[in-house]
Amino acid sequence: MNGVLLKEAADAILNADYFIALTGAGISKESKIPTFRGEDGLWRNYDAMELATPSAFTRNPSLIWEWYAWRQGLISECEPNPAHNTLVRWEERGILKTLITQNVDGLHIRAGSVNVHEVHGDLWTLKCTSCNYRGRLMQPATGIPSCPQCNNHLRPDVVWFGELLDPVIMDHVYTELERADACIVIGTSALVQPAASFPLIVKQRGGKIIEVNVEPTMLTGTVDFYLSGKAGETLPALDELMI
Ligand code: OAD
Repeated sequence: MNGVLLKEAADAILNADYFIALTGAGISKESKIPTFRGEDGLWRNYDAMELATPSAFTRNPSLIWEWYAWRQGLISECEPNPAHNTLVRWEERGILKTLITQNVDGLHIRAGSVNVHEVHGDLWTLKCTSCNYRGRLMQPATGIPSCPQCNNHLRPDVVWFGELLDPVIMDHVYTELERADACIVIGTSALVQPAASFPLIVKQRGGKIIEVNVEPTMLTGTVDFYLSGKAGETLPALDELMI
């Protein structure tokens, strides 16, 4: 790891008035949760159009639930890693103001982060395909859960391809992006919109962008500090410099 660059990035975080974070699947990789597009990524082995679209759910709800129950089982065995824990520490110290995540694994909240915006939803929350019912699973789903209010199918409350993000969450997120003067972007390929553009909003307003990733992304050319390395090692290393 380049020590000078790391120190400069740590100083940029400390000097910011409103520092935020954007995370993607790569931050949970060291917790043993597969990413989507990298080596062993879910979308390399499974067809997103068959598993993560509203029409796929209508066609074959039991297949979709089988896949989500498998992911819920896998995630329930995993623990937050030092990268999640560093973000908790920064929030507790008042350095990190908000955390925006594309992850549906719930690990930021399990780690103890409080001000978290899960823009792609949460794997454990349920919503009815017919009425306004919302519920929460405490353990991996079995079969197709049905709505206690209207008996129709429940689905995971995650954003599928072709769906819009929750407008209430997005309102909060855009407010935070407009306030931010520094943003750390951790473990995302920056290929899925609108999240891929969030750092650019901060950048366009003159903010600093710090990227942590094991490989360059679409964003790397525009960031102020590219920190090449695993999130679970790079974040604690940054933290050590932020005394
Ligand atoms: P991707 O799987 O597209 O990208 C994961 C990124 O993490 C890649 O850039 C990797 O290089 C990086 N990475 C892997 N291991 C890492 C580590 N230990 N430390 C740091 N970086 C690491 O995941 P996302 O960008 O999050 O959407 O994907 C965005 C969205 O696409 C997901 O939220 C999901 C998916 O379809 C929905 O489910 C709606």
